[in-house]
Amino acid sequence: MMAKSQIIVNAEHRYAIQIGESWLERIQVIAEPHNLVLVLIPEDVDRESGIAKYLQDLGSKYEIVRLPNGEAQKSFKVFQSIIDICGRINLSRSDLIIGIGGGATTDLAGFVAATWLRGLDWVAVPTTLAGMVDAAIGGKTGINSEHGKNLVGAFHSPVEVIVDLEFLQSLSKRDQSAGLAEVIKCGFIADPSILQDLNGSEIDYAKLIMKSVAVKGAVVSGDFKEAFAREILNYGHTVGHAIEMHSSYKLRHGEAVAIGMVFAAELSNAHGTLNAKDVALHRELASKFDLPIQYPRAAWSAVYSNLTRDKKNRGGKIRFVTLKAPGVTDRLEVVSENLLREIYERICE
Ligand SMILES: NC(=O)c1ccc[n+]([C@@H]2O[C@H](COP(=O)([O-])OP(=O)(O)OC[C@H]3O[C@@H](n4cnc5c(N)ncnc54)[C@H](O)[C@@H]3O)[C@@H](O)[C@H]2O)c1
Repeated sequence: MMAKSQIIVNAEHRYAIQIGESWLERIQVIAEPHNLVLVLIPEDVDRESGIAKYLQDLGSKYEIVRLPNGEAQKSFKVFQSIIDICGRINLSRSDLIIGIGGGATTDLAGFVAATWLRGLDWVAVPTTLAGMVDAAIGGKTGINSEHGKNLVGAFHSPVEVIVDLEFLQSLSKRDQSAGLAEVIKCGFIADPSILQDLNGSEIDYAKLIMKSVAVKGAVVSGDFKEAFAREILNYGHTVGHAIEMHSSYKLRHGEAVAIGMVFAAELSNAHGTLNAKDVALHRELASKFDLPIQYPRAAWSAVYSNLTRDKKNRGGKIRFVTLKAPGVTDRLEVVSENLLREIYERICE
C-alpha cells in the first residue's frame, strides 16, 4: 500500500489534495456532518467500480445520479437534469456534492456546486490520471455549449480532492497515456525531475502524481484566476486545443496536448530559446507512452482557423507558453501565420 500524502492548495479557500487515500473511507468522514450528499458518477465508472452500490449500502443520505460517459455529460441537458434533482431532493446550502469520475465529471459536478443556490461545497474524486494530476485541481468548473468547449463555467474550488490510485487499475492504456501527457507537461514547465522519472525503466505512478499535483497546486495557489502565472499550465494547449477541436474530440485531450507540446517546443527552438536536444526530448517522451507527435499537413487551415478563435488569444495575437529550458517558461505572442505554418511543417505527417 502506498504512503499517504497531502498537498494544500490556497485558492479562494484552502483545501487538501489527499493522495493515496481510500475514497470510500475518506468520503464517509467528509460526508458525516451533512444531511444529504448528491453523488455524480458516470455509468462506465460505476460499472467498473460498483461505487453506487457501496454508497447505497451506507445509507439514504447518499443520492446517486448516474451520468452519460465522457464528454457527453458536460451538456446543458445533463446539467438541467441534475438541477431538477437538486430541486426535487431539496438540496440545501449545507449539503454536499461529490463528483466521482474523470475530468468531465469533476468539471460538471463542480459547476453544479458553483451554481445551485449560488454555491455549495463539493468534493472531487478523480478516477482518471488526467483528472488526478490536472482537471480535479484548480477550481475551474464548467460545461460545453454549442459555441465551444468549457465556455460556460465558474471558478469554484472543491473542499477536498481524494486521489485513490486504485482507480487507475481499470483505466484503459490509452487514458493512462493521455494522463501522462499532463505529467510530461508538469515536467517541462516546472519540475524537470519528472522528466528523469519518466525516462526510467519503471513508472512509479504514485510519485509522478505527487510531483505533478505539487506543480499544479503551487501554480494555482499563486494565481487562482489566471491573471498571468497560471497561464504556464497552458503549455502545449494553444495548438493542442485547436487540434483537439479539429479531431471533433476523437483525440483525447492529452493526445492533442502531446502534439501541441512538440509544436510549442519547436516554436521555442525557432525563437532561439530552446535547444534541439530538449525539443527531441518532447518527441522521445511522448513516443515512449504512445502519444501522437504529428498531425496531418492538410489540416493546417482548419487548425489555424481554430487557433485564431481560441479564447487564449488577445487583441488578434495568438499567445503561446514557450520554454527556455525544461523548468523555465517564457511567453510569445505571434501574429504571423507564416511563422506558425513553418512550425506546423515540423510537426506534420
Ligand atoms: N477543470 C480543469 O482544470 C480541467 C483541466 C483539464 C481537463 N479538463 C476537462 O477534463 C475532461 C477530460 O478528462 P478525462 O481525460 O479524465 O476524460 P473523461 O472524464 O471523459 O474520462 C475518460 C473516459 O474514461 C472513463 N473512466 C473514468 N475513470 C475510469 C476508470 N477509473 N476506469 C475506467 N474508465 C474510466 C470515463 O467515464 C470516460 O469514458 C475534459 O472535459 C476537459 O475539458 C478540465
